[in-house]
Amino acid sequence: MRRLKPDIYAIGAIDWDARLFDRLIPLPDGTSYNSYLVRGSEKTALLDTVDPTKTDDLLSNIVGVGADKIDYIVAHHAEQDHSGSLPEVLLIYPDAKVVTNPKCKQMLIDLLGIEDGKFITVEDGQELSLGEKTLRFVYTPWVHWPETMSTYVPEENILFSCDFFGAHLATSSLFVDDEAAVYESAKRYYAEIMMPFRKQINSNIAKLEKLDIRMIAPSHGPVYKQPEFIVDAYKDWISDTVKNEVVVGYVSMHGSTAKMVSHFVEALIERGITVTQFELATVDTGKLAMALVDAATIILGSPTVLIGPHPSAAYAAFLTNALRPKAKFASVIGSYGWAGKTVEQLTGLMPNLKAEFLKPVLAKGEPKEADFLALERLADEILAKHKGSGLVN
Ligand code: FEO
Repeated sequence: MRRLKPDIYAIGAIDWDARLFDRLIPLPDGTSYNSYLVRGSEKTALLDTVDPTKTDDLLSNIVGVGADKIDYIVAHHAEQDHSGSLPEVLLIYPDAKVVTNPKCKQMLIDLLGIEDGKFITVEDGQELSLGEKTLRFVYTPWVHWPETMSTYVPEENILFSCDFFGAHLATSSLFVDDEAAVYESAKRYYAEIMMPFRKQINSNIAKLEKLDIRMIAPSHGPVYKQPEFIVDAYKDWISDTVKNEVVVGYVSMHGSTAKMVSHFVEALIERGITVTQFELATVDTGKLAMALVDAATIILGSPTVLIGPHPSAAYAAFLTNALRPKAKFASVIGSYGWAGKTVEQLTGLMPNLKAEFLKPVLAKGEPKEADFLALERLADEILAKHKGSGLVN
């Protein structure tokens, strides 16, 4: 039995073997689908369900904590890793009402075919008494869908935040015990899922700071007994501050772009700039996304294929555009055989990137002395830009 507080239990599922979320996001450390049971003196509430593949775990955990009834099922978020078991739970607990906001209600009807009559809709700030415990619903939109909300239990000062502050991490520890591991997983989670919503996260944190929160229980990963650990990390990640870092994502077919990247990365390191280099055909996109959280500059390296960028570089540009990192500078390096529009096509894939595009460096065939000098000039320019932005002492 995993107990957070008297009569508050974690009854979700640990998915040790999951390796890809949404057929997109790598899960090197698995994940968990956290569901919580809050038992008041009069009513019992289930907060979120689990991924449909883990429904049996949830159902047996409900029985395991001795819950003989469920009055309310709070749905914080309609995505199926938290709502997918809802139809089956409602079959077994037919008197339970689904408590959620109007947007989430409509999504649950659309995605899962839940009947209209099953719902109780709640407004932002509305409370629902369970007896001596209270559920206060706090709208926290766009973390990471428009309908996302959280629940605060004022008697215990716990915030149930769903995806917000989550970490894709399978662990037997109910609470954070290895801060470094959780920080890594939470940053990966932020980078892949939350980064496009920095502005909305800022508003949501300001709203939550009005509450006296002493524990945060997210829907993925362990529970935070020190909420400031994850809240401060989020504040750092969403801030407009960038670091003296360059992300270099590249792909090379016959070695020309690889030689350029090698020379360029060495030049950046010589200038005291932190570099993270990724080979884009084999990259763990989560690692790439994490590097994009803080970097001041993004460089894509690509050969020319059928007059455009290599598809792996195009994918990285597309992903970067979707994640909307706060980088201030960007450029392209690479090679071509006879002609091409690699630079135009790559930059065209990143309209959301509010960065200054620096002069690209393209080599015709094998890079030659003039190309290496151009790469060193680009490294000089990046250093000057970073200095001008106050990133280098
Ligand atoms: Fe964990 Fe957006 O679902």
